[in-house]
Amino acid sequence: MWGTSPDRGGANAGGGTVDGSLYERLGGVDAITAVVRAVVDRQLKDDRINQKFARTNVDRVIKEFVDLFCQATGGPCTYTGRDMTEAHHDMGVTSGEFQAFVEDVVAVLDDFKVGKAEQDELLNILAPLRGEIVEVDSDQVGTPLPSAFMPAPAL
Ligand code: HEM
Repeated sequence: MWGTSPDRGGANAGGGTVDGSLYERLGGVDAITAVVRAVVDRQLKDDRINQKFARTNVDRVIKEFVDLFCQATGGPCTYTGRDMTEAHHDMGVTSGEFQAFVEDVVAVLDDFKVGKAEQDELLNILAPLRGEIVEVDSDQVGTPLPSAFMPAPAL
């Protein structure tokens, strides 16, 4: 679980989620938000990938990540951001940078003492998105953000 216990009267009230969903086991939307903030914080400090965020509205990314993770794990949220191909189009993300991104997620999940089973379930959600995000088949990391990249507007 992500730092807080599942709160059946709180974040999940009326959400209609199946008991025992990954969302619930992680601790609901408050726990997911805390983890996402820590992940983005870590990524912005990670020289292997932080150049990609140079022109990004960080508040938007945090909100969109929370909605995506909440929805994908069975929570009562609806993701309304760009699809993964569009969001990462012209970003020039390499295979190595995708790996670095996932390593940052795992490091934060470890910090939050998320169990191995829940970590594996989350990684199984992220892994299939790789093909929509990686544009350059290379182990290189720390590559610059191409000038062609068009960031999403602030919310
Ligand atoms: C499975 C892995 C990933 C997921 C689930 C994911 C998810 C997302 C989401 C939901 C958004 C917000 C879209 C929007 O604003 O409408 C986003 C934006 C972004 N992602 Fe990813 N992402 C992943 C991998 C990566 C990687 C590997 C990088 C860079 C190394 C990256 C860099 C970014 C950046 C810089 C933005 C902001 C784009 C902008 O300013 O418009 N992402 N991502």
